[in-house]
Amino acid sequence: MESAKEESRLWRRAGTEGAVKRALYIDCCIRGKQSRTRKVAEAFLAALPKTWKVTTVNLMREDLRPLSGEFFAGREELLQTGKIDDVRFDRARQLAAADLVVIAAPFWDMSFPALLKIYIENVSVEGITFRGTEEGLRGLCRAERCVFLTTRGAAYAPGDPMEQALPYLRAIQKFFGFGALDCVAADGLDLDGADADALVAEACARAAALAETL
Ligand SMILES: Cc1cc2nc3c(=O)[nH]c(=O)nc-3n(C[C@H](O)[C@H](O)[C@H](O)COP(=O)(O)O)c2cc1C
Repeated sequence: MESAKEESRLWRRAGTEGAVKRALYIDCCIRGKQSRTRKVAEAFLAALPKTWKVTTVNLMREDLRPLSGEFFAGREELLQTGKIDDVRFDRARQLAAADLVVIAAPFWDMSFPALLKIYIENVSVEGITFRGTEEGLRGLCRAERCVFLTTRGAAYAPGDPMEQALPYLRAIQKFFGFGALDCVAADGLDLDGADADALVAEACARAAALAETL
């Protein structure tokens, strides 16, 4: 398996050749094999045309750290001295180079798990994933599509203020410059009387149908 740096280098090279379509799958399905969200993600990835080369970033296996203390100070120093080639920003470069970004995360505490937020915090790097301009922020990521796959215990109507995962990712879509954000969600899995298997199967079918269009 390539190191993140090697993989990023390969991606950059692929980008200049323009031959490979690169999908980045960000897996935040913390319950692993038990995760219904991961089932939806697997259905999506299985239906993705074979022209896509999929690279997985499993957030549970990443050494993800929130920006704080010396870790934060070290990053500030790198940014202030213009060292954005540092290995520390490999994941940001990888995200910026992807043609398709697929995020799978369950609904936790009115949003998504903190692990995904920490990933976003670490890949939000000026000069790689976004740039500040006189007109405001400009996303630097090349992906025309971002797909968010999620499952939720309760049911949330579109625009329900108790659902803060999708609105946040819509802001991130603009921040990073993804062309569009699609969401496939299975709702109400933990409600009394819910047929969770059927709800997940139905979401898998919607996810697969979306993947086939890409
Ligand atoms: C730590 C934790 C927090 C959760 N918070 C919420 C919540 O705020 N609202 C909700 O509707 N469901 C909540 N749930 C239920 C999950 O959204 C639901 O079970 C989902 O299908 C889990 O996805 P998974 O099977 O991929 O792990 C929570 C579950 C866990 C484990």
